[in-house]
Amino acid sequence: MTAGRVVFIGAGPGAADLITLRGAAWLARAEVVLHDALTDPALRELAPQARWVDVGKRGYAHATGQAKIDAMLIAEAGRHAIVVRLKGGDPSVFGRLEEELQALAAAGIACEVVPGITAALAAAADARRPLTRRGSGRTLSLATAMTRAGPHELQRQADTEVFYMAGLRLAALAQELLHAGWSADTPASVVSRAGWPDSLESAHRLADLGAAATLHAGRPTIVVVGAGAAPACTPAPGSALPPAAASALPSALPSALPSALPSALQPTLPPALAPAARLDAEQNGNTPAST
Ligand SMILES: C[S@@+](CC[C@H](N)C(=O)[O-])C[C@H]1O[C@@H](n2cnc3c(N)ncnc32)[C@H](O)[C@@H]1O
Repeated sequence: MTAGRVVFIGAGPGAADLITLRGAAWLARAEVVLHDALTDPALRELAPQARWVDVGKRGYAHATGQAKIDAMLIAEAGRHAIVVRLKGGDPSVFGRLEEELQALAAAGIACEVVPGITAALAAAADARRPLTRRGSGRTLSLATAMTRAGPHELQRQADTEVFYMAGLRLAALAQELLHAGWSADTPASVVSRAGWPDSLESAHRLADLGAAATLHAGRPTIVVVGAGAAPACTPAPGSALPPAAASALPSALPSALPSALPSALQPTLPPALAPAARLDAEQNGNTPAST
């Protein structure tokens, strides 16, 4: 049997250009890629030599899915030198990484983990609402709104709380947060398909969070509650990225990459590039983050 290694790679929240350079470099060497359902098909361009296997699970639909994936990883590592396990966002955040690491360790297979941009960070970027705030937002929690056993009783954890897997139960989540002690006028930011060109953001108070359900229906959704959900600023009219800077973006990234890593990593700049790519002198300054 070949002594292969498994490299877990965070693909980022969706669009191919949000993978890290390290992740792309490992993909270029992969012989087989076991990937989740949420990742951008354009990522295949980064590993055209590899066999791609979709092992995506949706919610808890596959009761036996995880054990099967563990077994597949072990079997593929027995046949190939480099097996990539490509996961949405970051592998360490609600990614079932623990089970897979344990299964591989028990089988004596070497592993590496390459981090990725987790959906919370992409959501904060798209909404231009920083997750931490000087003075008011010093603690941050990442939570799931749903567990295998169903909803769980929430307790107030941090100044800013980010909820994954909340899209199907926004109204119920709001009730649970109110019950946990948040006030009805606490800001809540909802972002679906964060990091994609068709990302959607909406701003609410806890009292009306349920109203976001229709807008974000059927899309992977992040809910941010508390200090980090408040608007950081009002975008100034005409504050779009200057044309010169915008045209520099697509060429800047590929030039930094190995020549084998091509169009999948061209930044997917949406037509509405302006607000997300806005250059804000104050926010990009060198002021120490004295939180
Ligand atoms: C099983 S968790 C995986 C999280 C992933 N490991 C990460 O770090 O982002 C799936 C949940 O992540 C969130 N999610 C994933 N991609 C997203 C995106 N592009 N926009 C908003 N939420 C996303 C949704 O809450 C979704 O239900």
